Order: sequence, then structure tokens, then C-alpha cells
Amino acid sequence: MSQSERLVLATRYRLVSEIGQGANGTVWRGHDELLDRAVAIKELRLPENLAEDDRVVFYRRTLREARAPAQLRTHSIVEVYDVVIEQGRPWIVMEMIEAPSLEQLIERSGPLPPERVAHIGRALLDALNTAHKAGIVHRDLKPSNVLLDGDRVVLTDFGLAFSSGSASLTKTGHFMGSPAYVAPEVAAGEKATPRSDLWSLGATLYAALEGRPPFERENVMATLSALANESIPPPQNAGALAPVITGLLEKNPTRRLSHARAVDRLERALTGPRSGRRPPTPRYRLMIVIGLVAATAASCGIGATALIVGMMREKPGPSPTATASSPPGSAQAATPPGVATSTLVVRARTDTCKIFVSVPGDAMTVLSDETLHMGDARQYDQPRLNAVIYDTSACDVWVNGQQKPPGRPGERQTYTLNKG
Ligand SMILES: Nc1ncnc2c1ncn2[C@@H]1O[C@H](COP(=O)(O)OP(=O)(O)OP(=O)(O)O)[C@@H](O)[C@H]1O
Ligand SMILES: [Mg+2]
Repeated sequence: MSQSERLVLATRYRLVSEIGQGANGTVWRGHDELLDRAVAIKELRLPENLAEDDRVVFYRRTLREARAPAQLRTHSIVEVYDVVIEQGRPWIVMEMIEAPSLEQLIERSGPLPPERVAHIGRALLDALNTAHKAGIVHRDLKPSNVLLDGDRVVLTDFGLAFSSGSASLTKTGHFMGSPAYVAPEVAAGEKATPRSDLWSLGATLYAALEGRPPFERENVMATLSALANESIPPPQNAGALAPVITGLLEKNPTRRLSHARAVDRLERALTGPRSGRRPPTPRYRLMIVIGLVAATAASCGIGATALIVGMMREKPGPSPTATASSPPGSAQAATPPGVATSTLVVRARTDTCKIFVSVPGDAMTVLSDETLHMGDARQYDQPRLNAVIYDTSACDVWVNGQQKPPGRPGERQTYTLNKG
């Protein structure tokens, strides 16, 4: 056993075994002795021959960079628990994701089908949107920093990229990223921005579809030269995703797809062109009716809960147990519609009830990836389901008719349902 494998950081995080190494350091499987849970620990390697001043700058920057994403609470970004300076270098303690990276998946199985890539792209756009709104740029989005845990797509290594070749971090302050995924303007010396993350997203999705990024060459110089001088080889396997990929891989950052337009094009690719507002599907129609009924009921002073219960039931079932006196949002909220027949029912207690619901399988179907507003409800009857409730204190959840106890604020819960 090596010295590192015996290490316990901050008298708490025990290194168990090495998961893998990248350009910036090593990721370890670890154990948090205090909370008795598995963690992943990223040991950051400092650039060699770093002057003492630069070492201090590096520490400060690492702490700042790790602190920023630690504030981001979204399903698609790895949770950062702690940063420890020990053995003369920083260690980032984070959520352990027992799953392969997109890079490993491409290496193992070759190019992915466009539907799967569209789902990955959608999740990464959400992750970037959350980060960019908080003023955080990833700087090194690439397949090895995207972990695929079943339906969940998780982005890691926020803001950690640095140019190991930079003579002085103090002077340059320049973080470079990975040549095959870096945006042309960043390769040319400009600062990384949200738009440069969108380029890296385009290159990542391109790699997922084609098996390799658009400008991969035998060495760094050749890659950077191709990035500067050559046009993007048109993707062969992108299908309906081609306009999203080429829009993100626009060399001029001002002409590159914005986040909103990328989402729009991705959704068009998934659903076909929309004419104005999307016509309501039966479920949408149902929700609109519920909204009207609830509003009417409220203005008449009638308990809205009971009315909503009556309207939402899609299949005949036992009489709803809700009563007009049940206060919406109370800890034991009224039993919602059709719980006897529905596999899963979610109702928002607050405006921050974010959910991700999908049907697992080779071609996974995403049923919901949204934030519900207080009182909104969703009901799913599929026999097999994966559901992630990002903040259990914000949502009431019924599984096979049984209400789940609400968790602490910010607590995430995953339900895997299989009716055989
Ligand atoms: N939170 C995590 N949980 C589990 N495995 C992880 C986690 N973060 C990273 N890994 C895995 O650790 C391995 C090494 O990651 P690392 O970030 O060091 O390398 P990289 O992404 O290939 O390169 P780079 O240093 O440029 O980011 C990868 O295979 C990745 O899948
Ligand atoms: Mg990484």
C-alpha cells in the first residue's frame, strides 16, 4: 500500500484506492469517517517548479474555485463537500459517483445514438446555465469530466483547469483547458467565458456522436493549429442534432449559439419544429384544467385541494381521501389523486420542487426534467421509473400510494420503481 493510500485527510477523509489520473492530479475513492459515507477525493498536482508566491496563489485560487461550485445545487453538477490543504497540496472532497465517464463510455462502446446524446446535451446545458447564472465558468468541459450514472448526467471539475505550462500563475492567471475541447478564442489567449464553455459542450457532444472530437490530432500543437485553421469536419452521425452541434462549434463566439438558442435547437431536434406554443398533450391539458379549477375554487373560498384531487384522476380508483380542510403544504399533505393506481405522484410544497423522472432502458425516456411551482402536481403510472427529487423538503411524494416522509432542506432522494 502506498503512502497516499494510508492517508487520512483532516482527521476525517481516508484514502481507499485510486480511481484514475488526469492532467491535474489523481482522483481517489475515499471514506468520510465522520459521516460514514463514500466520497471521491481529487488530489490536485501543482505545476512543477512553482515559486512560493505562485504556490500561495494556486492554493487561494483552488479554494475559491472549489467554493464557487460548492454553492451550486443542481442534479447535473457534482456536489463538492470540502477542500483540504494537506501534504502541501489541495484535495477536493466531493460526491462519489459510481459510474463511467462519457470518455470511458465512448472508448468502450463507440459513438452514442443521437437520442442519448441529446439527453446528455440537455442536462449539460442545464448544468452550465446554473453555473453561468452564478458567474461560474467551467473552463474544461470534456467527456472525461462528464459522468453518466444511469439517467443522471453529472458534470465534474468545475473551474479546476490550469495551464501547467504557464510560467507564472500570478502573471498570466491563464487557465487553458484541454486542447481538443478548448474554444478557439481561449486557445488564442482570451479568457474563458460562458460562450467558450458552450464551444466545449459542442466538441463534447460531437465526440459522443462521432467517437472523437472535431480537432483531435497527434499532438497539442497540431490540434491547436487545426483548431485555428481548419473547418469542422461535418458530423456523420448527428442526425437531427447537426444544427445544434454546428451552432455550438461556431468559431466566432459572438455568432455561437447562446444557451437559450442551444436549448431551443436541441428541443426542436427532439420533438420536431414547433409552431408557436406547443399544443397541449393530454397531460398538459389536464394540468391547465386543474389550474383553472384551482383558481376558481380559491376565488369561491372552496378548498382547492379536494377539487384538484377529483380532476386529476386519470383512471377510476378509490375515493380520494383528501379533505377541503387539509392545508396544502402541511407535513402530511392530503393524499393526491389516483395514488392507488399511480406509481409515483409528486406535488410541490414550494416553488423549488425540482424533479427528474425517466423510464430506464436502452433508449431512456425522460418524462420530466423541471421545477414545479407550489401546488403543481405530476402523476406517473409507468411500471418502471427512476425519479430524482432534488430537495425532498420542497416536494410531497407518493410512491405506490404511500406518502414518503419529507426530508431535510436540500436533501436529495432517488426512487427506483419496478413493478416487475
Ligand atoms: N466525483 C467522482 N466520483 C467518481 N469518479 C470520479 C469523480 N470525479 C472524477 N472521477 C473519475 O476519476 C478519473 C480521473 O479524473 P480526473 O479529473 O483526474 O481526470 P480527467 O478528467 O481524465 O482529466 P483532467 O485532469 O484533465 O480533468 C476519471 O476517470 C473520472 O471518471
Ligand atoms: Mg476530470
